Amino acid sequence: MMPRKLVVAITGASGVQLGKKFVDYLPKDIEVHVIVSDNALTVESFENKQVTLHSSDNIAASISSGSFRVDMTAIIPCSMNTLAKVACGISDNLATRVAAVALKEQKKLLLAPRELPFSAIALENMQKLAALGVIIAPPVMGYYSESGSLEEMEKFIIGKWYDALGIPNALFTRWE
Ligand SMILES: Cc1cc2nc3c(=O)[nH]c(=O)nc-3n(C[C@H](O)[C@H](O)[C@H](O)COP(=O)(O)O)c2cc1C
Repeated sequence: MMPRKLVVAITGASGVQLGKKFVDYLPKDIEVHVIVSDNALTVESFENKQVTLHSSDNIAASISSGSFRVDMTAIIPCSMNTLAKVACGISDNLATRVAAVALKEQKKLLLAPRELPFSAIALENMQKLAALGVIIAPPVMGYYSESGSLEEMEKFIIGKWYDALGIPNALFTRWE
């Protein structure tokens, strides 16, 4: 089976480590492209050897074109700035461009907006995108999976994101 192509963009909100762990726990048979801003992460910090790193400034990267045929895109964490741009169709960097490509190609797009509380503008942007089929999945803690540590809580959230994208995982204890 051909490996599926996944793009993960890490934007300037709190929770950069969640985006990094989302990449690190991925199954090996997925082709992973990661977009990082210059101050977010370094090349060495990824354990998954299949990762291709792209600078968010590199608007000419392969993944910028719909013809590259990315299967799913995730922005984790997603700043309110990036959320607003995606909701308005602005593609001024590689992260916002890949989101626009996912929308136009009608591929899976997951956004993990990170802010607390959310403003009415942010909620309006989320509502608009959710109505277009975008998966709006903020990093919300769940207390029913018996997570005893921060690491387990993070695995629960990442596992829920994988579930939403159809990526098999056993990262958390499911409710039985
Ligand atoms: C320490 C720090 C923490 C921040 N946390 C958040 C956050 O949790 N959510 C958010 O929407 N913006 C947050 N911001 C603001 C964004 O970084 C800022 O809006 C930036 O322009 C986002 O750019 P980007 O969307 O291109 O990554 C934070 C900024 C700083 C300096």
